[in-house]
Amino acid sequence: MDLLKEKILAEGIAVSDEILKVDGFLNHQVDPALMQDIGQAFAEHFKNQGITKVATIESSGIAPALTTAAALGVPLLIFKKQASKVLNDALYQTIVTSFTKTTSYELSLSKKFIGDKDHVLIIDDFLANGEAASGAIRLLHMANATVAGLGVVIEKSFQPGREKVAEQGVSVHALARVKKLAKDVIELH
Ligand code: G4P
Repeated sequence: MDLLKEKILAEGIAVSDEILKVDGFLNHQVDPALMQDIGQAFAEHFKNQGITKVATIESSGIAPALTTAAALGVPLLIFKKQASKVLNDALYQTIVTSFTKTTSYELSLSKKFIGDKDHVLIIDDFLANGEAASGAIRLLHMANATVAGLGVVIEKSFQPGREKVAEQGVSVHALARVKKLAKDVIELH
């Protein structure tokens, strides 16, 4: 997506060799027109695959996931993050440990919104080490749902997220891929 790549190069800030700040248009202030284009791009890539729902992890994935769900004409499922480990029979739950944020949280999904007939597209803002995406895949597999793929707005290809997700049989479609980050340097594929 050329517009997205231009935005990343013009407005993104490499705060270190691992972290790209894009809070001016993606995850703090959000550019709605760009989100519409992102939703169209994902919908075009994943069309005609029998997708019944789009899923994301709160909170930064919600904006691109919502426009994707609207473009595909299916509901959006938001996987919730909870700090405490409260067992609940009505939920599918799994622990996610984030390398990027060095924290753990419980990801949960209500059983009433997912079933074995669902074919789900996961959408997220970033793919880094892939822990969040792996947690989302585990939850969907607990429900015997199938995973159509993982769409990410920005993939950092120097981190192992894509391989980790592929090990679980899920293919990744990234709209922009970052090859290298260094102080004030952003290289895209
Ligand atoms: P991980 O295995 O290293 O934890 O990587 P993962 O891909 O699961 O990403 C973990 C969290 O860190 C995600 O946010 C993701 O959006 C964020 N993240 C990863 N790399 C970057 C980066 O270069 N820049 C920015 N701005 N964020 C990054 P999250 O835990 O889902 O939280 P939220 O922001 O959605 O609330």
